[in-house]
Amino acid sequence: MNQLQPKKLYIKTYGCQMNVYDSDRMADALAPHGYMPTQEIADADLVLLNTCHIREKASEKVFSELGRLKELQTEKRATGGDLMIGVAGCVAQAEGEEIARRAPMVDMVFGPQAYHRLPDMLAKAEANRHMHPALKRAVVDTDFPEEDKFAHLPAARKDVTISRGLTAFLTVQEGCDKFCSFCVVPYTRGAEVSRPVAQVLEEARRLADAGVKEITLLGQNVNAYHGEDASGRAVGLGELAYLLAEIPGLERLRYTTSHPRDMDEGLIAAHRDLPFLMPYLHLPVQSGSDRILKAMNRKHTAAEYLRLVERIKTARPDMAMSGDFIVGFPGETDSDFEDTLTIIRETGYASAYSFKYSTRPGTPGANLPDQVEEAVKTERLARLQELVNQQTTDFHASCVGKTLPVLIERKGRMPGQVGGRSPYLQAVHLEGSTDLIGAIHEVEIIGTSTNSLVGRLRQAAAA
Ligand code: 5AD
Ligand code: SF4
Repeated sequence: MNQLQPKKLYIKTYGCQMNVYDSDRMADALAPHGYMPTQEIADADLVLLNTCHIREKASEKVFSELGRLKELQTEKRATGGDLMIGVAGCVAQAEGEEIARRAPMVDMVFGPQAYHRLPDMLAKAEANRHMHPALKRAVVDTDFPEEDKFAHLPAARKDVTISRGLTAFLTVQEGCDKFCSFCVVPYTRGAEVSRPVAQVLEEARRLADAGVKEITLLGQNVNAYHGEDASGRAVGLGELAYLLAEIPGLERLRYTTSHPRDMDEGLIAAHRDLPFLMPYLHLPVQSGSDRILKAMNRKHTAAEYLRLVERIKTARPDMAMSGDFIVGFPGETDSDFEDTLTIIRETGYASAYSFKYSTRPGTPGANLPDQVEEAVKTERLARLQELVNQQTTDFHASCVGKTLPVLIERKGRMPGQVGGRSPYLQAVHLEGSTDLIGAIHEVEIIGTSTNSLVGRLRQAAAA
């Protein structure tokens, strides 16, 4: 008989939302093998680092974290315990062998395409523990599998699912074929793969059935989604949204991250027709200069982006935009940078993420001449952030006096308060009983505070 000794699992997640989703899938894969999650790293029998490779110093961060874990491992061993260590995610994918070589205390190194093989890897790694330290080596798995990883990943129990929150991520597409010249994703996550429609619908139904109210569909290039339906026909993200709208209990849908080139008619129509598709769109443009956009291999111009935003706002007039920007891409002049500020002013963002360009080894951008000086990048980033911060503040202020549907998700920071999210993904705090948690309520926005809105329950105000 299979006698399971409960063990404790601690996962540290870096980077994007897909890693958050993946960390939950790893926990689900290990649950049947007796691993229960812990929030205390010191209690853990197994620590997994789910790493991110998108920007600079990614591997250095991992190695310094491994240094700290080694101390914990040594302490535990000194007192008769043990600690197994796994490195997952995109740094593991990119530098698997290097990690195994440089960090002998690591038991497993595996990329995002190998998560369904985690229990097997763990069994191998556990067997390796008894080997002489000089011979011991981490189990490394950075292969891109033939089989469908998602079909092999077990689902969480209902209570586990809802304990993770009323909102959930659902990966529908992974990888990217766009090859923007700055980006490592096509190398770490591989070519674009879309999950079949039936599989996505089943997972969404399961989430809704457990009590999840809002799903964010994830993909590195989510709007390039083209999953097959039962007849083998490719279904786009817009069509998928109509199918998800039929699921009982599911009240809100979001998706991220999108590429302007894949914002097709079907998806724009879904925004026009489906109120449950939230009016908040993350649509990175990266730069406002056509010259830089070309060098980045973005395959569109600034004017095309602006026209697209206009079409989207015509379909859904209350659409709020979010974006990503890179400053200091090789060859970016003052005038190119001014074009970026211009496109920000013309689009008007509710929120934005901005980064200094960092060379990623193996990407075409790394070999370009005219790398921009660090001081110039710093100055440009500060100017850009000042502009988008002002836009965010203005957007929050424009909500004051409006009544917004808020999904109340949790107790607030103060006693007697609850908190949730507006359609535009803004945090909203209000006075109210915890009975409100779990549903969408009409909330009058009465003020703003740093990065959030203050509201008042509509019914309460009317009473
Ligand atoms: N340097 C700076 N920012 C980058 N991003 C991706 N690669 C790089 C890089 N090499 C940013 C892009 C992308 C976001 C996820 O990270 O803006 O949209
Ligand atoms: Fe990277 Fe460009 Fe693909 Fe986004 S679209 S993941 S930035 S290559």
